[in-house]
Amino acid sequence: MTIPEFQKFKRDNKKLLVVTAYDALFTRIVEQAGIETILVGDSLGVVVQGKSNTLSVTIEDMVYHTKLVASAAEHALVIGDMPFLSYQVNCDDAIRNAGRLLQAGAAGVKLEGGAIVDRVETLTKIGIPVMGHLGMTPQSVHRFGGYKVQGKEQREADTLVEDARALEAAGAFAIVLEAIPAGVAKRVTETLTIPTIGIGAGPHCDGQVLVLYDLLGLFDDFVPKFVRPYAHLKADALQALRRFKEEVEQNKFPSDSESYR
Ligand code: KIV
Repeated sequence: MTIPEFQKFKRDNKKLLVVTAYDALFTRIVEQAGIETILVGDSLGVVVQGKSNTLSVTIEDMVYHTKLVASAAEHALVIGDMPFLSYQVNCDDAIRNAGRLLQAGAAGVKLEGGAIVDRVETLTKIGIPVMGHLGMTPQSVHRFGGYKVQGKEQREADTLVEDARALEAAGAFAIVLEAIPAGVAKRVTETLTIPTIGIGAGPHCDGQVLVLYDLLGLFDDFVPKFVRPYAHLKADALQALRRFKEEVEQNKFPSDSESYR
């Protein structure tokens, strides 16, 4: 999947699919399932590193995980998430850090918020594709006072539509819309010519993204209303580990056929 192919999905009225991955093993599984776009999300701060938010994720963390995903991906479009403080300070930082993610193998980067239009313009001008991210942007969790739905008030919804237009004008190739009312996501989607990718933003977006470990039912510390677990891998893992423990304790594992002679 290339960026122009990704964008063509909107013109062809075909739904885009994006999931997160952070390592080679899951990258291969995602590709085998026919999902062609992988976001190396800074959500890894929560689901891999066990933190309560994404703010402590560093550019080094993102470079490492982007390398793991990009080297395993055979044809998926790999997008690297720009972590907190890697692009907010100035355009030079944004170029350097986005460049590091591209050198790690990403084909594009994702930046949060509407106040960084100049970064988007700078990066796209030098050939770095940028995905925007509006709505409940996790790096602003403290400003929002928690993971709360955004854009409910008319004024907020209007600002969101204006920000989306500005990101498109600055050169963003797509925009993630997170935790906003479905009607507002529909408005943004109909306003833009670039694809919108929803997460908790209803069915009218051009595509959907989910955090892989949420989708697989591996991470259940906090399950937002918009997550549909398509599997229950945490329950399966617990069951397997408990059986392993029991069978070793009862001398049932390994059996003769599982031992060398
Ligand atoms: O970090 C992430 O995984 C994300 C997605 C939830 C869109 O930003």
